[in-house]
Formats: sequence, C-alpha cells, structure tokens
Amino acid sequence: MLSKYRWWRDAVIYQVYVRSFLDSTGDGVGDLAGVRAGLPYLKKLGVDGIWLSPFYPSPQHDHGYDVADYRDVDPLFGDLAEFDLLMAAARRLGVKVLLDIVPNHCSSEHPAFRAALDAAPGSAARARFHFADGRGPEGAEPPNNWHAMFGGPAWTRVDDGQWYLHMFTPEQPDWNWRDPEVAADFESTLRFWLDRGVDGFRIDVAAGLFKHPDLPDSDDPEADARTRDSVNPLAWNQPEVHDVWRRWRAVCEEYTARDGRERLLVGEVSVPTAREHALYVRPDELHQAFFFDLLGAPWDADAFRKVISEAMQDIAGTGSTVTWVLNNHDQVRTVTRYGEPATEGSGLGAARARAAALLMLALPGAAYIYQGEELGLPEVVDLPDDVLTDPIFRRTGNRARIRDGCRVPLPWSGQASPFGFTSGVEGAKPWLPQPSYFAEYATDRALADTRSFWHLYRDGLQLRASLPQLGEGELRWLDSAPGVLAFTRGDGVVCAVNFGTAPAPAPVSGSPLLSSGPCPAGVLPGSTAAWWIGDL
Ligand code: GLC
Repeated sequence: MLSKYRWWRDAVIYQVYVRSFLDSTGDGVGDLAGVRAGLPYLKKLGVDGIWLSPFYPSPQHDHGYDVADYRDVDPLFGDLAEFDLLMAAARRLGVKVLLDIVPNHCSSEHPAFRAALDAAPGSAARARFHFADGRGPEGAEPPNNWHAMFGGPAWTRVDDGQWYLHMFTPEQPDWNWRDPEVAADFESTLRFWLDRGVDGFRIDVAAGLFKHPDLPDSDDPEADARTRDSVNPLAWNQPEVHDVWRRWRAVCEEYTARDGRERLLVGEVSVPTAREHALYVRPDELHQAFFFDLLGAPWDADAFRKVISEAMQDIAGTGSTVTWVLNNHDQVRTVTRYGEPATEGSGLGAARARAAALLMLALPGAAYIYQGEELGLPEVVDLPDDVLTDPIFRRTGNRARIRDGCRVPLPWSGQASPFGFTSGVEGAKPWLPQPSYFAEYATDRALADTRSFWHLYRDGLQLRASLPQLGEGELRWLDSAPGVLAFTRGDGVVCAVNFGTAPAPAPVSGSPLLSSGPCPAGVLPGSTAAWWIGDL
C-alpha cells in the first residue's frame, strides 16, 4: 500500500560532496559549516533536499567511504554540534537532509575490525567479517578467485595466515551480514541519525552486503574490475539483501508514524537489468534506487528512449517512481562525457548536457543533481598524477584516472583559485587544484547571467514545482523525426529533445516555456531540449 506522505516520489535532491563544496576553516577541505553556509544558495536553486557524502571519522582512503565510526563527525568536517546546526538551518529553510550510509564495508580502522584482527581465527569477533583460510600449500593463496572493484584481489592476508574479504580496497573490509550483531548495529546507527532529525539515507552499494554463503570461485573473476560495476553474481545482488531493506523501511515507517514526516531510503543499486532493479523498490523496501542506465546511455535518441521505456515499464510497475541521475561523484561529468574538450564551456558537450538536464527534469519520478552540474562544470581532465587521490588510480597501477576530475572543489567567486571555496586563511589551497578556467563557472557569475546553466536548472525546477503534470502525469511518447524524442506529461505539457545537430520541426507550434538553448517558435534546433504547454 502506498503511504500518503509521498514527497520523495518526484523530489529533486542535490548531492553535496562535502569535501569539495565549501571550506569554512581554510584547510582546503570542504566541511559541514561550509554546507550550512551554502544552504541559501541551494534553496534559491530550488532543490527539495540534499544528500551529504560521508563525513564520519575515517582515514579517508576512499574519501570517507571507509568509515571508522558511523555515529560521529570527522574533525576534518566539523563535529556533532556543527551537524546539529546544519540540521536546524536546513529545517528552517525547508531543505531535507539525507546522509550517506555505508553498510557493505567499514574502515580497517573501525574498532570492530581492529578487534577481529586481535582475535583468533573462528572467534565471534572474526565472524563479523569474512575471514577464511587460504588455499594451496600453507594456505598462501586467497580463499577464492574474486577481484576487488578497484583492482587487485578481493582478499588480503593477515599475520596469522587467514585472509579477509574486501570488495573495494584492503582498507575497506566487508561486513558479514549473516552475523546478527552486524544488522543490529546498523539499526542502531540508523536510529542515532534519525533521532538527530535526518530525513533519510543514501545507501552505498545497496546490492552488496551478502555474498554467496560458500564463497565459491567465480567463472569470470575480473568482471567487476573490468566493468566497474558490481556484476559478479556470487558477490552481489543476493536475495537476502532484500530482508535488510524491509527492516530498514520498517524503521523509517516507525519514525513516520511518530511525527508524520516520511523518511527516504535511496539505494545505490547496480544490477544487470531494470527488472532486478525494480525488486529493490517494492513497496516495503527502498523508496528509491538510482537508475544508472540513463547516466550510462550514449547521446543517442534510440538509446535514451530504450532506457526510459524500460525503466517506466519495470520500475513504475512496483508503485514506486524512477530515480534519474546524470552525474555523481564517481562519474565523468556530462559536459565532458557528451563530447567536448574540457577547457571550452560553450560547445557541443555543454549544449547536450543542458538538453539532458531538461529531459531528466521532465521525466516522471525523482532526480538527483550532483554539485557543479548546475554550473555546467566540465570534468577536470588534466590533473597531474601526484595530486590524484582516488584509490582506483593507485590500485590500477596508476592507469585508471576516473574519479578525481569530477571532485575538484566548486568555484564560488573571483578570478583565481580558490575562487571563494576556502575562506579565512591567506594562501589556502583546495585539496585538488582548480583550473584557471573555473573562473567562468563561479556561482556568482552563474547567478548574474540568465543564460547560465544555473538559470536553466533554477527555471526548470521552478516550473517543475508549479506544473502538476510534471509530478505524477503519465508519459506518452509522440511520433517524432529520427533523432528526436518527444513526449507529453499528463495534459498539455510537451517535452522534446533533438539529439542531432540539424534543426527539426518542433512538436508544438508556439514558443516554448523553457528551452536549453535558443529555440524559435516551430523549430527545435540541434542539441536542444524544450518544454511547451499546448495542444498538439
Ligand atoms: C560507492 C560510492 C563510491 C565508493 C564505493 C565504495 O560506489 O559511490 O564513491 O568508492 O561505493 O564505498
């Protein structure tokens, strides 16, 4: 049965990558006080809520996705008192707050893992993780042939000869979710933050947690490392994980029953098909799961149409809505992905990224925006090797330069780095260097220029909030020229995107309500999307 509180069904959430958002202390790393200072900017943009990337105590081997204490704030980012101030400010502005929870693995510095290392093989402390004896003479080979997502074997040997499993880096041991204490401890963590007022959680690696109980060899051990997706069917997407999401949903419903505020669980779910994806958003499981196929689709009308149709068919059938995403902290930014040199801001990639944004905001369901997307930031592709911090780089022998280029700190103002990102300390340097061309993208310039990406997102969000058709209105495809996608939402709202470069006839004769680029009446120029109100 659908709950009557359903704010999340078509919500737009802004992902704050805390260390790159805004630095209030001048140490070059963004922090919670910086997020609080940036809230009015986000309110003005018009998002419903924010998702905060992990800020918990952590050795930062994977920028906080290696959690040493799930119920505190790393001094790098502030403290619990600052967190409470942020919550209070967000509540005053009516901005919801989601935290990032990392249940598949913790940090090798987590006290439970330290205790497991100190304990004997076969002990209760070791049972909270996946410790196993090796194979071959003297157990010198790993217990199975699995590879870690970020390269290298998924097992590391400890002093007494046993091995432990880590599907990411060796500093991120995987929890054993078949141990009931692990499940109980995570429920306490949920309650800890729900009691502090949060509106929900983004769940890291939500198709993870359980592994095949026998930990057998995989037929294709390199699949995960090769695809950067959790595709080893023995290590991911085990049926037991759904019980966890049912229990977490029940915890959320318990809080909703107390105060009427519906909490949101959104999962990072990477599974092979839309049909399997849909299982995660059944009515008693997660509210949302990121549908990454849109992000993975090439700039092509047929590819986009296929992805959208499959999502609508399989996910909408659960009673949930689709959760669209084009960018996040793990992916090359759209402006660059859709084909443009990183140092030019006004070419094809930017035009396509703007069109994709209007398309995403016109689709039924929820949408997530990654910080800097609203500024049209390109990927920083020329970072020198010695500043790269993504563990994937190190673990692939300095080959895969994947995730630093989208994590460069945001430009806020001014003509030179740090572009207002750090404050207070003379000569403070952002933790990743900002290129000089970031000056063009600074938020103050974006706000002052009505042709900016920022205004496109702000106008799109405003219209989305005021047109009820864009909420629960049905999507119906319209016939359109090759290379053009056109659809209606409910009564009277039409959206069309021209994926080609030549102009096409517009589906509606009048002027558009909003368009991603210049759009004269009756025409839809190449690499452009537009919204109209009108009779067909
Ligand atoms: C998720 C996060 C990514 C992190 C990984 C391991 O994919 O988005 O940033 O490295 O999980 O926690």
